[in-house]
Amino acid sequence: MMNIEKKQQVLFVSSEVYPFAKSGGLADVSYGFPRAMSPFFDVEIIMPMYKSIDKKKFGIKPIKLSFKIELGKKKYEVELFATIYNGMKCYFVESKILSNKKYLYGTPESGYKDNDLRFGLFSKAVVEFSKQHKKYDLLHLNDWQSALCALFVKEDASLQTKTLYTIHNMAYQGVFGKETLDKLGLSSAYFDMDALEYYGDINYMKAGIVYADAITTVSPNYAKEILTPEFGCGLDGFLVKHQNKLVGILNGLDLSHFSPASDSALVQNYDTQNYDKKLNNKIAYLKETGLENDALALFVFVGRFTWQKGIEMLVEALDALENQNFNIAILGDGESKYKQQIKEISKKRKNINLFFGYDEELSHRMYGSADFLIMPSLFEPCGLNQLIAMNYGTLPIVSSVGGLKDSVYSLSDFGLNDGYGLGICFDVKTPHALQDAMQKALDLYEEKEKFKEINQHNMQCDFSWKHGSHAYASLYNYLLDSME
Ligand code: ADP
Ligand code: GLC
Repeated sequence: MMNIEKKQQVLFVSSEVYPFAKSGGLADVSYGFPRAMSPFFDVEIIMPMYKSIDKKKFGIKPIKLSFKIELGKKKYEVELFATIYNGMKCYFVESKILSNKKYLYGTPESGYKDNDLRFGLFSKAVVEFSKQHKKYDLLHLNDWQSALCALFVKEDASLQTKTLYTIHNMAYQGVFGKETLDKLGLSSAYFDMDALEYYGDINYMKAGIVYADAITTVSPNYAKEILTPEFGCGLDGFLVKHQNKLVGILNGLDLSHFSPASDSALVQNYDTQNYDKKLNNKIAYLKETGLENDALALFVFVGRFTWQKGIEMLVEALDALENQNFNIAILGDGESKYKQQIKEISKKRKNINLFFGYDEELSHRMYGSADFLIMPSLFEPCGLNQLIAMNYGTLPIVSSVGGLKDSVYSLSDFGLNDGYGLGICFDVKTPHALQDAMQKALDLYEEKEKFKEINQHNMQCDFSWKHGSHAYASLYNYLLDSME
């Protein structure tokens, strides 16, 4: 008789999942990664039910499971919903304080005041769901919003569940006042520097670091960087203490969502063999935006307007390159001071197109139309934009930090035969570095055949989850093998 071994059950816990709710790369990873893991494990996803999620559109239905969660002196009603999207089962945790707000976490300027309770409740509800629903073998947690799951699992002696905690960005740690411990009904013993205490406050990310069985971050280089004061955002020393369970694994792309050959957002689909057809997208995009002359190089920037993304450097470079012939389109949203700086520079130039807001399809059209993607990040845990750009035959211009360093190899040091994704790389600490890099890009753009060859080469590289999913599968197996 054939012995069909039951796959182990994994619950992937994330505060945002494409297409239900997305503010950045975490949502892309939470969509693509569980799918890439499903040949090896039985993976399901769980996320908060936000007010902005359209239940009808996605066929999200109640699953006849509800319970009460006690936090401090208060009890909260929790109801579970689910849908299957592109073959993946996704559960949603609905509860008043979590689900009655306009935004996911707050405005770019400040998070909601009760985010401690909202995500404390989410994490406790996820652990309760796991207990009542399937007794998952492994909870894969992501960022501070689900970090407390690791603590709640450890507190429950009846649970054998393993936990893996992935850090997507050290800049967001979930830091709240000391009174949060009381609000969550957690023992004051956690107010300790080896537990959740952080300069007199409570830090949710620390719960993931201490109590999870293993920690990953989203690129090997960022795994090294965060052990230093420059990138550790105050937790470098703490991470050094726990570095024996920390590993960096580079993110990948879900190619069903990010492929120029099949992307329905594009006016013209294309692949490596008919790369020249890409020009039709550029022509259509210039028409859409009012930018002129498809013979000029088109640069794009897509991203959150935060310090991390190097907006100030971009504005400075655009100011300095005033007499150059090129077009640039910027798509993003975030802090008003950056919006203001971008608005001001664009008032002075005809060759800048701005779109403030979030628009998934527009971003795809930009990747599919541009010659260059600019990503001058001051730090970048992984970065997906540069991977998307290379897959769309759009040359990345990136700072040499974090995951950018692991995924884009400099054209000055590497060639087509090395097999890596290539781009123009620069060091943010060098004055005028971005400006020089953009100048290099404009020179390369003039060498039409070479430029095309490099982009075609990039399109043939593998930016999928293939490598990453195998690395995670080994880690999952290692953790699950150590189960009693
Ligand atoms: P981060 O997670 O730090 O924001 P990543 O590079 O990992 O950066 O991922 C960003 C993702 O969000 C990419 O899919 C990018 O195309 C998308 N994105 C960012 N800003 C916008 C926007 N304003 N509109 C549409 N897509 C956006
Ligand atoms: C974070 C990081 C980004 C990374 C993404 C997905 O938002 O800023 O670099 O690509 O998470 O892991």
